[in-house]
Amino acid sequence: MTVPVPAARFDAVADVYDDDPHHLGIARQLVAGLRPVPEPELVVDVATGTGFAALVALEALAPRRVLAVDISPRMIEKAAAKAPGNGRVEWRVAPAVPLGLPDGAADVVLCASALHLIGATAPPEWRRVLRPGGQAAFSIPVAADFHPSPEFAASLPADLAVPADEAGAGHIARAAGFGSVRVTTTSGPRRSFLVFARVPA
Ligand SMILES: C[S@@+](CC[C@H](N)C(=O)[O-])C[C@H]1O[C@@H](n2cnc3c(N)ncnc32)[C@H](O)[C@@H]1O
Repeated sequence: MTVPVPAARFDAVADVYDDDPHHLGIARQLVAGLRPVPEPELVVDVATGTGFAALVALEALAPRRVLAVDISPRMIEKAAAKAPGNGRVEWRVAPAVPLGLPDGAADVVLCASALHLIGATAPPEWRRVLRPGGQAAFSIPVAADFHPSPEFAASLPADLAVPADEAGAGHIARAAGFGSVRVTTTSGPRRSFLVFARVPA
């Protein structure tokens, strides 16, 4: 069973979350790494936080709509404040699993820096909601650069380990039934694996 990191942890940091440029950088790299997505109907940003990946995708992919979910009400509040009156984005306080979407409804699922908090049930859920040929793009910390406090570590799901190498990161997508898996590694002191994968057409 997935053990969600308490929403209160992220509620508490919502006001300063955007001070860290790391998050926007990851969001931009995830969206830029997608294969072309012609006229997307729906992009889903899972664990959107303050909305970086959702808003980068809105600008770059021009989907008809974006669904951005997060378990933290304060993070969603901050995200929604960035796009007032923009009816194409639905900011929803909700868990990552289940996504509350029909099978095959989405063209793209994004998940930046959150899979290790959600756990192993997430990738199969992304695959379920993606249409054939749909794409998932997610980031996850490189194990050697991930140093959670003991208290934080204890709150992480036990069913999904932060990967040590690109093969391990790609395996997360393959194990959920994705194909065409590509993995790259970001540079800098807090490296992440970026994983791009498709639902077989
Ligand atoms: C490190 S932040 C990443 C936020 C955003 N994706 C970004 O890249 O800036 C992790 C986010 O995951 C959310 N989260 C953690 N567990 C979750 C769950 N089970 N369901 C939905 N959101 C979750 C937290 O509330 C937090 O906003």
